[in-house]
Amino acid sequence: MNKKTVKDIDLKDKKVLVRCDFNVPMDENQNITDNTRIKAALPTIKYLLEQNCKVILCSHLGRPKGEVLPEFSLKPVAKELSRLLGKDVIMANDVVGEDAKQKAENIKNGEILLLENLRFHREETDNDPEFAKRLASFGEIFVNDAFGTAHRAHASTEGVTKYLPAVSGFLIEKELKFLGDAISNPERPFMAILGGRKVSDKIGVIESLLEKVDVLLIGGAMAYTFFKAMGYEVGNSICELDKLDLAKEIMQKAKEKNVKFMLPVDTKVGKEFDPNTESKIVKYTEIPDGWEGFDIGTETIKIYAEELKKAKTIIWNGPLGLSEFEQFAVGTNSIAKTLADLDVVKIIGGGDSAAAIEKAGLADKFTHISTGGGASLEFLEGKKLPGIEALQDK
Ligand code: 3PG
Repeated sequence: MNKKTVKDIDLKDKKVLVRCDFNVPMDENQNITDNTRIKAALPTIKYLLEQNCKVILCSHLGRPKGEVLPEFSLKPVAKELSRLLGKDVIMANDVVGEDAKQKAENIKNGEILLLENLRFHREETDNDPEFAKRLASFGEIFVNDAFGTAHRAHASTEGVTKYLPAVSGFLIEKELKFLGDAISNPERPFMAILGGRKVSDKIGVIESLLEKVDVLLIGGAMAYTFFKAMGYEVGNSICELDKLDLAKEIMQKAKEKNVKFMLPVDTKVGKEFDPNTESKIVKYTEIPDGWEGFDIGTETIKIYAEELKKAKTIIWNGPLGLSEFEQFAVGTNSIAKTLADLDVVKIIGGGDSAAAIEKAGLADKFTHISTGGGASLEFLEGKKLPGIEALQDK
C-alpha cells in the first residue's frame, strides 16, 4: 500500500480522531448480533492506547438520514467495545455538539471517547466542509480504519482529511493487502465465485474479474438472467429482462478471454417466497412455470466443488442462494464447507457471503474475510475508494 499508516507517523501522546466502521447488525432491542466489525477495529485502537494517545472514535450506524433516532445510537457499540477492551469507553451524547466538544476537550491520555452516530447529521453524507472542520477540530491527527465505508466520500472519511494529517489504521492496511494481493498477484488457477440477486449489481465486478480469473462460477439469483439469455424459461425466478443482451455479452467476453464461465446445471426451486415452501431440484433447462429458483442444486454443488479443488486462489462475493432460508442455504453452506477444507488462498469479499460464513461458524478457515460489503465490491471492480485516496502517500 502506498498510503501512510499509523506506523509511519509519530502518534505519541497525540489526540487522534479515528473513523471506524461500527455499522453492525442489531436486533429490535439494540443487541449487537455480529460484533465482527468492532473486533476488527481493536488492533488500531490498542496500538493508539500503547502510544498513550487520547483516542476519539467516530462511526455511522445505519442510515438515519440526518435525524437523531435512538434506535441508531452507538451506545450499544460503546458497551461492546468496552467489554472487548476491558476498559471504559466514554460515550458522547452528540456528534459535534456541546457534550462531544467538552468530552473531547477533557479526555486524558490513554482514554477512549466514542462520538454519537455521524449520520445524525445530514452534513456527514453531504460531505459538508464546515461539519468536517468541526469533527477535525477534535483531534491533531486523523486515522481512517473504516474500510467498510471507504467507498463513501463523506465528511468523516474524505472531508476531514483536508484539515488534519490523515493516515490509515491496521484494518484498512490488512484489507488492501489481502484483497489487493489476491487481485493483482494471484497464484493460479485463480477462481472467483459470484452470487447475488442481479447481474446489474455485479456487472462491474464481473467485467473486472473477467480480465483476471481463470474460472468464474456463478450462483445466486443472477443465474436466472443468464438462463433466460440462453433461451430457457425461468418460471417466477428473479430475472432482469432488460439485461439479457448484457448477459450474452458477458458470456461471449468470457469465451474471448478464455475464462471458464460456469453456470449452475440444476437449481432448487420453491413454490413461494417462504422458508417452509414446497421445493424440488430441477435441471436449469426445466424450471417449471409458477416456480421460483432459490438455490443451486446438488449436481451443481458437486461440479463446483470439484472445480474449486483445482484452484490456488479463490475470491467469493455473494451467496449462492437465498441463504436466509435454511432449505435454500444448502448451496452456500456446502461450498463454504468445501472451501474451508482447502489449503489455498481464500478471500471472502464481505457483505452477505461473509455473514453466511460467520453464521456457518467457518470464519477461521478463511485467509481473509473482508469487513466491507459495498467497499470490497468497488475495490474488486478496480474503482478508487475515496476514503483511501484521501490519505497521505508514503
Ligand atoms: C456497509 O455496511 O456497507 C458500510 O457500513 C456502508 O454503509 P452505507 O451503505 O449505509 O453507506
